[in-house]
Amino acid sequence: MPRLYTIESMSDMAHKDELEQVAETASESVEPTVTEAAGDVSIEPSLSLEEELIAILHENDRGTHTIPAAGLYPHQWLWDSCFIAIGLRHIDVDRAQSELVSLIRGQWANGMLPNIIFSNDAAYRRDRNFWRSWINPNSPDGVATSGITQPPMLAEAVWQVGQKLSLAERHSWYKLMLPHIIRFHQWLYADRDPHGEGLVLLLHPWETGLDNTPPWTYELHEHLMPGWIRAIRWAHLDGVIGFFRRDRHYIPPGQRLSTLETISYFAAQRRLRRKAYDSLKVLDHGLFSIEDLTYNCIFVRANTRLRDMAKTARIDLPADLLASMAKSEKSLEGLFDPYARTYWSRDFVTYRLLKQPSIASLMPLYAGTISKERAEHLVRQLENEHVFGPAFPVPSVPLDSPQFDPERYWQGPSWVNTNWLIIEGLRQYGYHDHAEALTETTIEMVHAGGAAEYFDPTTGEPLGAHNFSWTAALTLDLLNRS
Ligand code: GLC
Repeated sequence: MPRLYTIESMSDMAHKDELEQVAETASESVEPTVTEAAGDVSIEPSLSLEEELIAILHENDRGTHTIPAAGLYPHQWLWDSCFIAIGLRHIDVDRAQSELVSLIRGQWANGMLPNIIFSNDAAYRRDRNFWRSWINPNSPDGVATSGITQPPMLAEAVWQVGQKLSLAERHSWYKLMLPHIIRFHQWLYADRDPHGEGLVLLLHPWETGLDNTPPWTYELHEHLMPGWIRAIRWAHLDGVIGFFRRDRHYIPPGQRLSTLETISYFAAQRRLRRKAYDSLKVLDHGLFSIEDLTYNCIFVRANTRLRDMAKTARIDLPADLLASMAKSEKSLEGLFDPYARTYWSRDFVTYRLLKQPSIASLMPLYAGTISKERAEHLVRQLENEHVFGPAFPVPSVPLDSPQFDPERYWQGPSWVNTNWLIIEGLRQYGYHDHAEALTETTIEMVHAGGAAEYFDPTTGEPLGAHNFSWTAALTLDLLNRS
């Protein structure tokens, strides 16, 4: 790659090592290591929607856990498995339990639940090496994981599965899982809330689960993108590097992150790896540190579920955890912007609210702790066809935002998991008709387009991976609840 040397002569020599690693990233980590076909399940035309969804979950079942989609996502992901268990509980409650128990094998000694637990298959050695979780002494023995986390959906999933059990079974189920959830939540406060503010900070966009959501990509482009990556754009090398990306083998480029964003995310991951995933050390040297709104809303709701389950199982929660939980509910209000009458994510260092519109602004409905008046304002945005209410809602970015792109991953398409979270939120605040309507349109969208990873909110066209597990599982849940 001779043109890479043109960048060496530029001022950003400090990052020469990172530049060299781009080539490594391109050839080692992004190139497919997968031989598996992009597993379309061939579905009998006569199957009902429910049978189709169950067939997809069976196809993606790897024994004790379910992969998100064959080919593109061959490992176990944290919040995916939580959503999957919420669907599985309707067809096989034991299997729903094993889905969640299998997440615990990846838990770190400090309590962290990693966003990925890697398959042991020899074909994925490069994926495991890319993260090298074993460089941190807290990582579990003999289980290769990532070194970052994902939204804390576990408490919700354990609670939802518990609803399908008899009272006695529920007690033992909660007793089994609660110690792990407590350790995870304690880790979030100890490690990711260093000032004891009640809000958790994230160190990498992959931790949000909404990888290229505008508050994060905007920060990246405006403030954080390392000079050497800007130089790649300047030298038009992103096209060359993009050619090696794994996802390009499965999904058209217009539906994914830009190559510059992808390179930046890999560069941010390498900074974390260099600090052996030690949060405090990373904070000084990382690219990102954001108090993400979606994450914190999910955390507040998870704490509510934790409190309920502890009561049912007659387990006393540690006093310091209870105090932090109470603080979180109050601190969430610190993300409210009275002028825009909406909530935003916040930069951890500068305290600046990150005012880039995204689906995150609806997540306080799911958190369930905001006032009725503020909830009402969010519901109005959901009704507005130019904002969050197009024909196939709910778009991951509102239609009136300059960042809206109907096909690009978390930058516009509608996703079934965020619909599910919003439906839960609407029910909590008593908007049963709205919840019903969104349930119906979600089911219709999946019925017409299949269990796609995401959908064009203006046309309903299915996008991303096919036969995506959480789409199948959560649609199954919606079918069984309506
Ligand atoms: C993508 C999504 C993330 C999900 C993962 C596996 O990275 O952004 O939310 O967990 O794929 O499905």
